[in-house]
Amino acid sequence: MKLLLLGSGGREHALAWKIAQSPKIEKLYIAPGNAGTRNVGENVAIKADDFEAIRTFVLENGIQMVVVGPEDPLVKGVYDFFKEDEALKDIPVIGPSRTGAVLEGSKEFAKEFMMRHGIPTAGYKSITADNLEEGLAFLETLEAPYVLKADGLCAGKGVLILPTLEEARKELKEMLGGRFGGASATVVIEEFLSGTECSVFVLTDGKNYKILPEAKDYKRIGEGDKGLNTGGMGSISPVPFADKQWMQKVEERIIRPTVEGLATEGIDYKGFIFFGLINVKGEPMVIEYNVRMGDPETESVMLRIKSDLVELFEGVAAGNLDEKTLEIDERAAVCVMLVSGGYPEAYDKGYPITGLDDVKDSIVFHAGTALKDGQVVTAGGRVIAVSSYGADKEEALAQSFAGAQKISFDKKYFRSDIGFDL
Ligand code: AMP
Ligand code: GLY
Repeated sequence: MKLLLLGSGGREHALAWKIAQSPKIEKLYIAPGNAGTRNVGENVAIKADDFEAIRTFVLENGIQMVVVGPEDPLVKGVYDFFKEDEALKDIPVIGPSRTGAVLEGSKEFAKEFMMRHGIPTAGYKSITADNLEEGLAFLETLEAPYVLKADGLCAGKGVLILPTLEEARKELKEMLGGRFGGASATVVIEEFLSGTECSVFVLTDGKNYKILPEAKDYKRIGEGDKGLNTGGMGSISPVPFADKQWMQKVEERIIRPTVEGLATEGIDYKGFIFFGLINVKGEPMVIEYNVRMGDPETESVMLRIKSDLVELFEGVAAGNLDEKTLEIDERAAVCVMLVSGGYPEAYDKGYPITGLDDVKDSIVFHAGTALKDGQVVTAGGRVIAVSSYGADKEEALAQSFAGAQKISFDKKYFRSDIGFDL
């Protein structure tokens, strides 16, 4: 099979690494990819949301399947673009339709969907400039801290957690006034949930689903989970509290009603669903939906999938995912992210990266890298994910930390306490 993967981050390198292992793959292309994905496939200089260029490439190169990494092309409707095109309509796209992607594209829609299907989530109210007074009154009924979410996509920056009522009132007005442009014209005010987070992933054909290994990601820049939020500084899988009993609650109360809810509402959904969950005193609740895999969770989750991922994708496309098997590796898998000094605020790019080939006992996934005059250089805030297996997370982490030491670039930083809380 000739497969085209869209995206360019660590998630996409991990997906490409796994896809390339399938005996079904004749040729793997990644658009646009990064300096790491070229080791497992061929990079194509096309942006993941340039649908016309994708169309031309797919037709000229006989692409038989398209897998979508990031949310952006999904929210912009890449699935529908294929379905509505006479020449493309029979080429499966792994990812939801535009309507399905609204689960991530609109926090308000996601909350209303959960209400309709009785899925456990934090209490909330949806506010626009027209009912600001209602929002201010709702804040009065909540306890600190206060959670404000821009309705639309804000590259992970649209959620504010505020310690005082005064700040929450002020921020609510600023968000509605355009702090995040149109994305915060509607703001979801939520009850704060206290607990440990866990990311659960499923692959669905719209009717059947397979539950992939769960993972926990570490979002803050500083050790001990302090400081600014990032795209993710590392991940571990499995998550100890997500035992059989807990996962059974997740499946019954969250996964099944979500997949059935999508189907009964007539929403075309063939792809990944990412459930951002929080464990509140033993009970799973949904913090958010995403319509793609997580990053950096993918950089540990892919290590734990033993089965042929392309065969699972074929099941998604054909609607017979129930006939496919998903075998999971019992070992632990972790990833430690190496980032550019300064990230998630201002940082420099273009520093040469050395030592990549010295890492023998881990899998090195590139996140923000590029090739410049034959040299791999930094090209983003999150630069390299060092992923490892271990009998347990301690063993896997020791491996990743050792690998992280061998890779060098100017102002390299990583958290050496991934997994500390579990
Ligand atoms: P989101 O973009 O929805 O994932 O939110 C970003 C982060 O904010 C989440 O990963 C949580 O750590 C936190 N968060 C979001 N909603 C809540 C909530 N209702 N209670 C507590 N923390 C939350
Ligand atoms: N790791 C969280 C995300 O991908 O949104």
